[in-house]
Amino acid sequence: MPNISFLSDVTLNPEPSLSFRTIGGILDFYVFLGPTPENVVQQYTEAIGRPHLPPYWSLGYQLSRWGYSNIDVLKQTVERMEQYSIPYDVQYGDIDYMDHQLDFTYDKENYAGLPEFIQELKNDGLHYVIILDPFLSKDQPRGSYQSYDLGEQLGIWVNNSDGVTPAVGKALAPGMSVYPDYFNPKTAAWWAQMCIEFRNVLPYDGIWLDMNEPSNYLNGQYPGCAHNNLNYPPYIPRISGSSLFESTLCPDSKTYLGSLYDTHSLFGWSEAKPTYSAIQEATGKRPFVLSRSTFVGNGKYTAHWLGDNHALWEDMHLSIVGILEFNLFGIPQVGADICGFYLDTTFELCLRWTQLGAFYPLSRNHNALGQKDQDPGVFGIEFARIARSTLQIRYSLLPYLYTLFFEAHVSGNTVARGLMHEFPADLETHGIDRAFLWGPALMITPVLQEGARSVDVYFPDASWFDYYTGDKIPASSHNKYVSVDAPLEKIPLFIRGGSILPTQKPATRTAKSRLNPFGLIIAVDEQGQAYGSLFWDDGESIDTVESGNYFLTKYTYREGHLETRIVNNNYRGVDSLVYDTIQILGVTSKPRRVLLNGKAIRDDTHYHGNGKLTIHISAPLGEPLDITLQ
Ligand code: GLC
Repeated sequence: MPNISFLSDVTLNPEPSLSFRTIGGILDFYVFLGPTPENVVQQYTEAIGRPHLPPYWSLGYQLSRWGYSNIDVLKQTVERMEQYSIPYDVQYGDIDYMDHQLDFTYDKENYAGLPEFIQELKNDGLHYVIILDPFLSKDQPRGSYQSYDLGEQLGIWVNNSDGVTPAVGKALAPGMSVYPDYFNPKTAAWWAQMCIEFRNVLPYDGIWLDMNEPSNYLNGQYPGCAHNNLNYPPYIPRISGSSLFESTLCPDSKTYLGSLYDTHSLFGWSEAKPTYSAIQEATGKRPFVLSRSTFVGNGKYTAHWLGDNHALWEDMHLSIVGILEFNLFGIPQVGADICGFYLDTTFELCLRWTQLGAFYPLSRNHNALGQKDQDPGVFGIEFARIARSTLQIRYSLLPYLYTLFFEAHVSGNTVARGLMHEFPADLETHGIDRAFLWGPALMITPVLQEGARSVDVYFPDASWFDYYTGDKIPASSHNKYVSVDAPLEKIPLFIRGGSILPTQKPATRTAKSRLNPFGLIIAVDEQGQAYGSLFWDDGESIDTVESGNYFLTKYTYREGHLETRIVNNNYRGVDSLVYDTIQILGVTSKPRRVLLNGKAIRDDTHYHGNGKLTIHISAPLGEPLDITLQ
């Protein structure tokens, strides 16, 4: 794995081999030997830094759009979510919340009352994330834009090639703009101060970092890029556009660490840690940062969305590729703009995308200025019903998803993973990009074609159970594609035998669902065995793993017997939580009786005939659980 931040061509050759052609830099090559793809990612993230543990709320459903245009429209959108009881945890403010797109301001006319409204949302268990762009307008009336004035006084901008005068580009804000040079420790301190002070204005919970390539509406800064070797190198890799400064600054601009020629690709990365630390200081809680530009190691601080896609079926398909790639890169909290950013979406595309997006590690619906509304409440009752039931599945599986993020944090595992990671010897799995897994256990097989009411699903050789019915997929369907029904209201999902998934009764907010009873889905393998674990903490404190303030339990199911082994028991929040439903898939016959911690339970078991057994219990989460089928 080469660590190249310079512009490079990377070519895949048939040998198989890779060719790198780079226009500068120190070439550090690391080889991670695996042997499995999952091992490679574990080894890679050990070298670059393991992904951070996201706040629990950020795993909930997120809603955004560019151009609510005023607070009333925003309120109507939130009300629609409420009206249809759609699970939802995060509301975003895009640049239109700002006063003339100026960072660290808000529009007191169109968004009058925004601070109070954000507080209301927070009282209702929601979280609010604000966008910040990495440019400050330099042409505001003197004394009226303190963030710029202070930065100017501190001399913390990216400079022209003279290293003294600020590089001046163009952003959406009126006038011309300068760029904070986040490599400079003085900039990081200034940025932290701005973020902390602004939290007293808008009580945000997370920050969305956009345009941090860094982007510029000019090609190079004012008045253009000089003719030299940095701005016009003898070779230009195959980049989009024809020059190194297309829609960005001139490569000979100076940052604290050297020319932008050397540091351009690290600009977004350089913004990540200062923002993460600033939120931590401002909120006293675990930060959530969403970044558009990323580099090796960003996963330690940020989540990522896949940028400005289009409301097209093909873009929905390609989002799976992006999600799997970013899991390889050690940035597992990733998603695409659900329903598409540019172009108006359609009922069916948006519905199918909402179903797929319910299984993105980062589940956010977002679209562009001028496009039609596409929040799940806007299409009417039928859409809302399907969106609600699909997101309820996401919310019920969040304890499993959160445990996967814990494993990513401590061992570097992927969260969303290609089938190839679990079945590397099955060559057919290597090319699959229309289905994916959450961890080792849940296979997601979305509909990606307009009008389709079935999906061709490839079942690698393992036990698989239909998530909805608990029916076992017959062995005759293994190692081949099988057509599976997918009416409009359903995204096909399958649980792999051998796994135990912790679940929780869903609610419209994670703040509520986190208090609900837990369940287990036990799906047995051919030997009648299954394994799993649950990681649980308060979901928002800083460094709970590092300080040991969490609960971790392992589950083993063998020969009709489930037992738990509590590995870490340092989060007292579990004391008020209970298990209430245990589902076992793949039971060979109805048991005569079921014992809970040695005592028979009556009437509270239901055998569904297809090998699925549902057991209702009430048992404390924080104590060992022992269930025996006899
Ligand atoms: C960029 C972002 C997009 C955002 C827009 C306005 O295009 O990628 O998500 O909505 O800017 O801020």
